Amino acid sequence: MKGLILSGGSGSRLYPATRSVNKQLLPIFDKPMIYYPISVLMLAGIRDILMITRPEDESLYRHLLGDGQQFGLTISYIHQPAPNGLAEAFILGESFLVGEPSALILGDNLFYGHGLADKLQDAAKLQDGATIFPYYVKDPSQYGVVEFNADGRVIGIEEKPALPKSHYAVPGLYFFDGQASTLASEITPSARGELEITDLINKYIARGKLHAHKLGRGYAWLDTGTHDNLLNASLFVRTVEERQGLKIGCLEEIALRMGFIDIEQFEKAILFYKNSAYGDYLREVFNLEKLS
Ligand code: G1P
Repeated sequence: MKGLILSGGSGSRLYPATRSVNKQLLPIFDKPMIYYPISVLMLAGIRDILMITRPEDESLYRHLLGDGQQFGLTISYIHQPAPNGLAEAFILGESFLVGEPSALILGDNLFYGHGLADKLQDAAKLQDGATIFPYYVKDPSQYGVVEFNADGRVIGIEEKPALPKSHYAVPGLYFFDGQASTLASEITPSARGELEITDLINKYIARGKLHAHKLGRGYAWLDTGTHDNLLNASLFVRTVEERQGLKIGCLEEIALRMGFIDIEQFEKAILFYKNSAYGDYLREVFNLEKLS
């Protein structure tokens, strides 16, 4: 299973904060937003990741993440020159995927909850079909929205409907089988001129191949499309991290716990972070790990 992270978009809803910095590089409390979706792919056990960025942002992502080796990952980069839609990720990523199953996550989506790693690792076993994670929200009209039949089966997804058919939004995390690139190339642009992920999912529904695993109310799915959402996400992370003294989305810690890096590599990261609070945290993790 390979991973795709889409971090394009002009972020115009957050201007002027995002005029010179790509949105997914802004901090969510104590780390760049992009750390959170990377952590989700890592928790799914995915180590081979393609970052899809705007051409002007690639160097910034490389500066932050490099080739991923410090996290035990292989990160490569490709450009999305224009915001042509989420489904374009599978066309741009075709030669990276070479027909393998993949998980696509949006660079501005944050997931948190007990048992998430198990759920992700289950989803990553997918060989045939596609998986989405419907999530109940008060106002789903800004998202892809699920329509269920009387038996609770998903019979369709609508993109940003004025009259949503349910309260279940489709978060920006999707698992697809090896057909995704082929099917994405059959999609035509929507009224807003984009290759919609919703249209790709609907192709899987039409084939009877969509799996929908609801994320229950014990999970947090946060997005960061507005200044309020951005601040709420930061406050959420701060609240949980301060209470527990455990970090959300700490890539070095996840890499260590997932067995992607060994304790010696972890120790190198500590030296890099010197006197930051992030470095202090890594030092704590290191000491606990040495004791165990
Ligand atoms: C995109 C998708 C939408 C999905 C949302 C999740 O919306 O098109 O189906 O529910 O991400 O964040 P956009 O970011 O293009 O508004």
